[in-house]
Amino acid sequence: MQKYEIAVLPGDGIGNEVMPEALRVLDVIGAKYGVRFDHRHFDWSCETYRKTGRMMPEDGLDRLRDHHSILLGAVGYPGVPDHISLWGLLIPIRRVFDQYVNLRPVRLLPGVTPPVRDKQPGDIDFWVVRENTEGEYSKLGGRQNEGTDRETVLQTASFTRFGTDRIMRYAFDLARKLGKPHVTSATKSNGIYYSMPFWDERFAEISQEYPEIRVDQDHIDILCARFVMTPERFDVVVASNLFGDILSDLGPGVTGTIGVAPSGNINPEGRYPSTFEPVHGSAPDIAGKGIANPIGQIWSVGMMLDHLGLTEAGADVVAAIEQVLGDPTAPRTPDLGGTATTEDLGKAIAEAING
Ligand code: NAD
Ligand code: IPM
Ligand code: MN
Repeated sequence: MQKYEIAVLPGDGIGNEVMPEALRVLDVIGAKYGVRFDHRHFDWSCETYRKTGRMMPEDGLDRLRDHHSILLGAVGYPGVPDHISLWGLLIPIRRVFDQYVNLRPVRLLPGVTPPVRDKQPGDIDFWVVRENTEGEYSKLGGRQNEGTDRETVLQTASFTRFGTDRIMRYAFDLARKLGKPHVTSATKSNGIYYSMPFWDERFAEISQEYPEIRVDQDHIDILCARFVMTPERFDVVVASNLFGDILSDLGPGVTGTIGVAPSGNINPEGRYPSTFEPVHGSAPDIAGKGIANPIGQIWSVGMMLDHLGLTEAGADVVAAIEQVLGDPTAPRTPDLGGTATTEDLGKAIAEAING
């Protein structure tokens, strides 16, 4: 029997509520496809920080390293400053394991009413390819004259040719693989003097390797407007770390709810484990109520299966999500306009997989 070891980090807030539903689905898939998934739990969270002064033990990353994949809920909760909790757990995982691609689908699912008019499933169906290890997310900079009226804060973004080229190639390769012949680059080379003109230069050069793929280069401001006005226009969107972060909440927002959006933090070479997690965070405003939408976490399991080469199983998860959402009598969480619980919706998806 094929066997996979999965590190499970529910993290904070609703991470603890949506994760059991994802594991329910994973177990159903394991039984159906004759694959064994051993999940090893790590309860690292803001609670750990409050108890130990660290988000994870000193050897935390070493303890994750040998797993086939990492399944993560959400990190960050009121009481611990976000830059401390995130730079103590999620961001080191992404960086040390060289998960340089953050792959985030944006898809209008059946049975979900989007806030934009007259859109059907199929109209909104594209991928955000977000650079995940450099760019605007950095600890380069500092504070001077702290606490005085002369205080100055510098925050430097860093774009390497290696890091920029590889994310662009990933985006073009994805477009080729999906048969979606259009890549849009998110830029801001009219306002940002060094990094974005460089980004455009690399985009132009890498695009030469893919002559059959149509390209567009949209400044991030108009790109945001186009996500709302003409989402049909996009197939693959490649963006820097910060622009990609913003676009990958905007996209799901346009499709009706952030609660369904999954992501893969991928090390494409497979040298390190990749991490699969919903796009959303710990949602302190609804945490503890049992009403969070588990689909973002469950779809992340689908992406993980796909990454592990279990393509049919991955597609099965996505089909079950679509089947349940398309059924007007099936449970729906409040973000989808219903009154169901996290568990009701998770169980319905697990049952749909079992047929
Ligand atoms: P958030 O995504 O946690 O919540 C934003 C809004 O979306 C809230 O109203 C919330 O109730 C709603 N929402 C989110 N997920 C939902 C779901 N599954 N079902 C229904 N509604 C859902 O974003 P935030 O409020 O900016 O951040 C809260 C905390 O989470 C912060 O500490 C932040 O840093 C952290 N965060 C972590 C991650 C991550 O671990 N990858 C991602 C985003 C935010
Ligand atoms: C995400 C989150 C993180 C990010 C935060 C919590 C650091 O918003 O996964 O999208 O910006 O990458
Ligand atoms: Mn985000």
